[in-house]
Amino acid sequence: MSRHRSPCIVILALTAVVQLVSTASSAQEAEIRSPASKGVPAKAFPLFGRPVAEIVSPSRSTEATRDANEEAQQLARLMRLRPGMVVGDVGAGSGYHTVRLSRVVGPSGAVVAQDVRQDYLTDLAKRVQQLKLTNVKIALGEPHDPRLPGASLDAAILVHMYHEIAEPYAFLYNLVPALKPGARVGIVDLDRPTPQHGTPPELLRCELAAVGYRQVSFHTLTGDAGYLAIFEPPLKRPQPSAIVPCRR
Ligand SMILES: C[S@@+](CC[C@H](N)C(=O)[O-])C[C@H]1O[C@@H](n2cnc3c(N)ncnc32)[C@H](O)[C@@H]1O
Repeated sequence: MSRHRSPCIVILALTAVVQLVSTASSAQEAEIRSPASKGVPAKAFPLFGRPVAEIVSPSRSTEATRDANEEAQQLARLMRLRPGMVVGDVGAGSGYHTVRLSRVVGPSGAVVAQDVRQDYLTDLAKRVQQLKLTNVKIALGEPHDPRLPGASLDAAILVHMYHEIAEPYAFLYNLVPALKPGARVGIVDLDRPTPQHGTPPELLRCELAAVGYRQVSFHTLTGDAGYLAIFEPPLKRPQPSAIVPCRR
């Protein structure tokens, strides 16, 4: 018998391996879905007329720097996050807050790690699996619609992502039904123009007010983490076409 394999057999074997790998990764991606039906489409809302930052990274700064600044502890304290709560980490990226929130809410609570990037969520799902975090759910959203189930969240955090939301009015409008009565939305960002990956607090307040949110508190975070603005959602949303865009 010849010691050399025929090139055909080698090619067939290689093709099978490639197929297996791609089936495995697409199976993992296939598990990451939007857990809720679609909200109102972006075209129903007025144009917001300001630049949006590009999505360039699944995280902001290194986790060691953020831990040194006690970013997660500050957020948990100021947002009054407690065991048993269901918290949405909207725009979770690589999950800096997701993994820390998982410990805060404990086994009786849950973290919904949501993002618009399937690839970021696939990596985050692996991280969650490796850390054996059983109270984290992964959810895919759309740029104009978080696609989160109705009345599912006790709180939502949007950390260093607001300036990347491609359709802010539609996004904020479609987020409201996912919030339970009394839920708060905490937005962390830097006080700098949106193309520089920040949101001036006045612009943030204006855009949220346009959809009916009310700011309940504003905090400057220590270190270089920026600010945390906490909002309560509207009890009744305006008609999308009645939203008055903020002037630049
Ligand atoms: C700079 S990263 C921050 C990630 C994480 N929150 C953190 O603090 O490390 C911004 C994240 O927001 C996500 N993102 C951008 N637009 C979004 C949208 N409309 N809905 C949900 N996530 C969005 C991006 O895909 C990215 O993962």
